[in-house]
Amino acid sequence: MNPPPVEDNTMSDTPTPVLRDAFRRPLRDLRVSVTDRCNFRCTYCMPAEIFGESYKFLPKHDILSFEEMVRLTRIIVRLGAVKVRITGGEPLVREQIETLVGMLRQIEGVDDLTMTTNGFLLPQKAQALKDAGLERITVSLDSLDDAVFRKMNGNRSSVQKVLDGIAAAERAGLHPIKINTVVQRGVNEHTILDLARWARDKGYILRFIEYMDVGNMNGWRKEEVFSAREIVETIDAALPLEQIERSYKSEVAARYRYRDGSGEIGLIASVTMPFCGACSRMRLSPEGEIFTCLFGTKGTDLRGPMRAGADDAALEQIVRQTWGERIDRYSEVRFLDTPRDPKVEMYHIGG
Ligand code: GTP
Ligand code: 5AD
Ligand code: SF4
Ligand code: SF4
Repeated sequence: MNPPPVEDNTMSDTPTPVLRDAFRRPLRDLRVSVTDRCNFRCTYCMPAEIFGESYKFLPKHDILSFEEMVRLTRIIVRLGAVKVRITGGEPLVREQIETLVGMLRQIEGVDDLTMTTNGFLLPQKAQALKDAGLERITVSLDSLDDAVFRKMNGNRSSVQKVLDGIAAAERAGLHPIKINTVVQRGVNEHTILDLARWARDKGYILRFIEYMDVGNMNGWRKEEVFSAREIVETIDAALPLEQIERSYKSEVAARYRYRDGSGEIGLIASVTMPFCGACSRMRLSPEGEIFTCLFGTKGTDLRGPMRAGADDAALEQIVRQTWGERIDRYSEVRFLDTPRDPKVEMYHIGG
């Protein structure tokens, strides 16, 4: 039997009572996915042969309005989340996304408001996002080699388009800029050193992500995982590194800095060094379900009760119960042969 949900006030860095899950992990971060659509077709996320012209994305009326997202976010922030990250799909394809940023900015208790994007639309959007109150941004970029990058994004973007987006974010003052790079063996591992040099010169924090078995459609094989250890070895051989502390307990990235003091990189090693023990992330899907794990199989619906007239207290109770019963630790049990239902798709809950 699971232990009952507990609330307490013992975390020294948190002024409000914190909701804890069945393993006593607090709820600290909320990832809000604003759309299931994307203008890229990354092979490891939304392979073009599956997500083609006839693929049925969510109809508009199923997707939460900004007002609905803000209402649910406010409730989840009251329960302890201090960090809100806007994701997708690709969040910048949602019209007027800066309006949502401005609305989320008004919520008391949000200490960190950020976004993960593929960067393609940043030249048009970066300044508006900053003006609306976005603080920093994370841009995905898997390679500086155009052929390699195109292969990974389904031939939807050149490297230059994303570099233009990153430059726009920098001009707008979104800071710090983080770069997410998925590393897949046989595909882009030969280009990671170039990326590291570039990011270091630019002052961006580069985070390498081990290729993960998210969703059910990317045909993941563990042989294609280029491990965090191999990544560190590759870079360390040319640019010597040393490990440093995580900036906060539930940070997904293990951090390394260049020994000459010229910057840092992160390793998100969900496959070879799982970090479920400190996982404090809740995810809200575009149609208003909450997920307690990136690899979750089933969400808990909030949109239904909300549209049927539930008040905040009733919605809060659903969130409390869902988090209180949470026992997810998928990355730690990935290789056990336990039968499970199909996982939620990555593009649906935004990584
Ligand atoms: P910071 O707030 O800057 O520390 O970044 P973040 O890690 O919250 O954000 P980001 O969206 O950039 O996360 C990087 C990537 O790590 C995601 O896109 C996912 O691929 C992966 N990731 C994030 N959270 C989790 C998680 O809880 N579990 C697993 N397995 N992977 C995660
Ligand atoms: N493995 C690792 N990272 C992934 N992402 C998407 N799919 C995968 C996968 N299968 C990353 C994207 C982006 C973030 C949202 O998640 O590259 O940086
Ligand atoms: Fe789109 Fe990001 Fe998925 Fe690539 S990883 S298809 S950019 S949502
Ligand atoms: Fe959290 Fe699930 Fe990722 Fe583990 S696998 S860190 S529980 S989201």
